[in-house]
Amino acid sequence: MKRACETPFPLSLPAEIFDARLTDGDEFRYRGAMKRCLIVFGTRPEVIKLAPVVYALRERTGGVGITLCSTGQHRQMLDDTLRAVDLHPDIELNVMQEAQHPTDLLGRLLLKLRPVLAETDPEVVLVQGDTTTVAAAAFAAYLHGAKVGHVEAGLRTQDKRAPFPEEINRRVTGVLADYHFAPTARARDALLAEGVAPDSIFVTGNTVVDSLRWMRDRIAGRPAGIQLPDGRYRLVLVTAHRRESFGQPFREFCYALRDIVRRFDDVHMIYPVHLNPNVQRPVREILGDCERIRLIEPLGYAEFVALLSQVHLVLTDSGGIQEEAPSLGKPVLVLRDKTERPEGVGAGVVRLVGMQRERIVAEASRLLSDPAAYAAMAREVNVYGDGLASRRIAEVVLDGKMSSAPFKGDQERLEA
Ligand code: UD1
Ligand code: UDP
Repeated sequence: MKRACETPFPLSLPAEIFDARLTDGDEFRYRGAMKRCLIVFGTRPEVIKLAPVVYALRERTGGVGITLCSTGQHRQMLDDTLRAVDLHPDIELNVMQEAQHPTDLLGRLLLKLRPVLAETDPEVVLVQGDTTTVAAAAFAAYLHGAKVGHVEAGLRTQDKRAPFPEEINRRVTGVLADYHFAPTARARDALLAEGVAPDSIFVTGNTVVDSLRWMRDRIAGRPAGIQLPDGRYRLVLVTAHRRESFGQPFREFCYALRDIVRRFDDVHMIYPVHLNPNVQRPVREILGDCERIRLIEPLGYAEFVALLSQVHLVLTDSGGIQEEAPSLGKPVLVLRDKTERPEGVGAGVVRLVGMQRERIVAEASRLLSDPAAYAAMAREVNVYGDGLASRRIAEVVLDGKMSSAPFKGDQERLEA
């Protein structure tokens, strides 16, 4: 069922929305599991990380009571991702505007979410991560009186300006949440230190690993979705889009990429450029005519996972890619000074290099010229998840308790 929802006026969703998929035979099977659950998402990473949760909930409920609401904070990038994971929102709020300011976006989201909550009247609202959609949906859900389930809770840099505004979005959501799905023990400890009730925290692993494994199996044996240069080149995958880096830091990073390909004639960079105009402008201007730096449109999730599986090195400021690359044994240089995902750094497979030109060039050059340094980082580690996070989350949402054992990363298993 697709709902257009262009205005903040009541939606008049029919009551059947909650049992549209219930047939006679299914009723007996699913009745015990029924719970009205609204799942809200707005950007590419939220869809990637919530898709396995949706599927886990559907497996238990047949989809009864599960409503998907897209805020449309992203447009093309969201639609491409929804296609990749075969999901279709029941409700579409279509909020994105060109070069949107987070304050304006927050206002539009709150206005449009209120009638959705009034009409769907969920018992639980599930959100994922730290975007403006997440903070707005958690607040609107709280004001409505629904319980808030926060997937990927407890990640912190302890710096409210980095990542900006995501650190605050995530903290605000943590204050509003009733179920905190902490991906790792470290995230759980951060929540405990803030006084969150221990029995509301569940260490689930990160659902990004569930998605990655699912997609990897789905595309196994298929060629990469894009044409790659021949085997004599080492591929470097680049992505960057953080707001706190806009302006001069972003330009420095672009110049660093130029320096690296000049220094290494066997390096070929592939850079799917984020659609934010603040990213597009400097990237196209500085790197538009650079040999061996291929600027491409954002890739579909399947194509992206296929590419990630084949590259030599990753340079990124992305949260999700920082988690995916170590699961595939790919070294990552993180284009940030701080990360809320330090588990990969602790395991020695991720390094923080910031956005300063000389530092990026020096760190990348070290990995491109020193085989021992490269080998030390090119290890597959299991620090973010074990592929069972979504099942654990579904248990809590539907049963109120987690019957599966909590996630333990490589390090904790070694220490146990
Ligand atoms: C948002 C999230 C960030 C997340 C990122 C994922 C916030 C505050 N930030 O940042 O945490 O890492 O999404 O990519 O919520 N645009 C398009 N088409 C698209 C998507 C974006 O044209 O499909 C352009 C639009 O001009 C839009 C701009 O990008 O206004 C910024 O989008 P927005 O969602 O506000 O911020 P992101 O930088 O994408
Ligand atoms: N991704 C994608 N296509 C791309 C780049 C990234 O599908 O061209 C996926 C990637 O696999 C990861 C997610 O998008 O799961 C990361 O999204 P992004 O970097 O936009 O946001 P962040 O994770 O930083 O919030």
